[in-house]
Amino acid sequence: MVPSVFTSLAYLTLAGFARAATVTYNFNATWVWASPDGVGRPVIGINGEWPCPTIKATTGDIVVVNLYNGLGNQTTGLHFHGVNQIMTSDMDGPSGVTQCPLPPGSSMKYQFVVDSPGTFWYHSHNMGQYPDGLRGPMIVSDPNDPYKGQYDEEYVLTVSDWYHNDSITLMKSMLSPSNTNFLPAFPDSILVNEGKGARVNFVKGKTYRIRMINFSAFASALIHFDSHTMSVISNDAAYIQKQEAYQLRLTPAQRYDVLISCIDRDNGNFPFLISLDINRDWTDPNAQLRWGLNYTGYLVMDSSPLTKLDVVDKWNPADDAHFKPYNNAPAYPSYDHLIHLDFEFCFDQNGYPRACFNNVTYIEQKVPTLYSAATTGQFNTKPHHLRPTGRATGPAATSTTQQPADARHVAVMAHSYAVLRFKADNPGVWLFHCHIEWHVEMGLTATIIEAPDRLRG
Ligand SMILES: *[C@@H]1O[C@H](CO)[C@@H](O)[C@H](O)[C@H]1NC(C)=O
Ligand SMILES: *[C@@H]1O[C@H](CO)[C@@H](O)[C@H](O)[C@H]1NC(C)=O
Ligand SMILES: *[C@@H]1O[C@H](CO)[C@@H](O)[C@H](O)[C@H]1NC(C)=O
Ligand SMILES: *[C@@H]1O[C@H](CO)[C@@H](O)[C@H](O)[C@H]1NC(C)=O
Ligand SMILES: *[C@@H]1O[C@H](CO)[C@@H](O)[C@H](O)[C@H]1NC(C)=O
Ligand SMILES: *[C@@H]1O[C@H](CO)[C@@H](O)[C@H](O)[C@H]1NC(C)=O
Repeated sequence: MVPSVFTSLAYLTLAGFARAATVTYNFNATWVWASPDGVGRPVIGINGEWPCPTIKATTGDIVVVNLYNGLGNQTTGLHFHGVNQIMTSDMDGPSGVTQCPLPPGSSMKYQFVVDSPGTFWYHSHNMGQYPDGLRGPMIVSDPNDPYKGQYDEEYVLTVSDWYHNDSITLMKSMLSPSNTNFLPAFPDSILVNEGKGARVNFVKGKTYRIRMINFSAFASALIHFDSHTMSVISNDAAYIQKQEAYQLRLTPAQRYDVLISCIDRDNGNFPFLISLDINRDWTDPNAQLRWGLNYTGYLVMDSSPLTKLDVVDKWNPADDAHFKPYNNAPAYPSYDHLIHLDFEFCFDQNGYPRACFNNVTYIEQKVPTLYSAATTGQFNTKPHHLRPTGRATGPAATSTTQQPADARHVAVMAHSYAVLRFKADNPGVWLFHCHIEWHVEMGLTATIIEAPDRLRG
């Protein structure tokens, strides 16, 4: 049904990466009982375990994930967040966009090339399932890492808001006509490394690369290390020029890679603070943290008790709009198409609270949009609903940045805006959406069909 060009992995493998290996994972998604914060609940695990495993590969590898839906009572699917999926749009994973939801008792094979290195994650893009636990890190290591030799060990640090009710319960309550203030679900707690905590063995003379991933459905995470600065080297899997930061703010789904060094004068154990924040405008000096969920992790040098707390008087995180791309790539000088998207809350004709782009809410498609684009011949250039041509990835920045670093997420403050530019160089069907999962479920999504003429079957 989908043009075979999408599965011609051989092309990429031959074209770019002589040493490509195939990395295979067999995933059986099932319900697992877990209590990461002391409160038990069913979560979606893989192969009978939760947290879900980390996918590890090297740039140029072919990743194969054989997914079996062992949930019994829900459909599922996997999205590999941040992977370019060049010529493999049908492997991108969002239900109703590039595939049908995978029914219970069925399996499917995801197969794609990881053409660029960095810190990624995979998660379900179906029925709000990632706050129910179906998510995990995906690390693509880089033989040509420009920062190679500048760190000795690496750690993954995942941060997430956490809910004691399952997503379906939370969504039902959120999408009810009585929710006239469009309130999303409020988290019950914060999870760091899915409840396993964060202890970094900190040894004098060593430098650590910490790959931070935000798994949250709603809250942002602020992070600060006692007595240590972070050298930020990568934002959303794009290298940047090394930039010192005292505090960082991870918006949902964002990733930062930072280096932290244990130097000569260091002695004892150093706390670090991760604080969840649902404040929509952190540049507002009068805004307080809107949520007080804190987690303290430790850089551990000795066996003394881990009691010291890291206290932050005022959060003033580094602004990622000022990070510079590693290769000094200039901003795109101009554009061919201007896509204007206003987002706001809206009610549908039945009075249900929704979220809208240009006054249109997203309705999940029964036939995945990619299949429609591939099978409707010349009619596929007729707009379905929202149909800008271009992909929502690549350089992103606020309008004031002259030389934007690559990014895949941009935080947009309330009553504010962001200007994004991207190069339309990857034919396929892509979702452009808010990564506050609750807003996605309210409909804050647009479909971008890039180069529809090249998708015809
Ligand atoms: C998946 O796990 C369930 C529960 O353990 C088991 O019954 C089922 O046979 C497994 N399926 C596959 C394909 O591994
Ligand atoms: C599916 O089963 C899980 C685990 O028993 C349960 O928590 C969840 O509510 C069920 N979902 C539906 C849609 O029935
Ligand atoms: C979630 O769980 C709590 C405690 O069990 C309950 O009070 C609340 O009403 C539930 N529903 C929603 C939508 O939060
Ligand atoms: C994590 O990502 C979610 C969206 O997926 C966002 O709402 C949240 O603010 C982020 N949290 C952190 C800790 O960065
Ligand atoms: C979380 O940490 C911040 C910054 O140190 C502090 O102001 C706040 O009181 C803490 N919140 C809680 C609930 O402990
Ligand atoms: C949005 O749609 C509603 C309902 O169709 C309509 O009443 C309203 O005028 C529209 N607003 C804009 C800004 O187009």
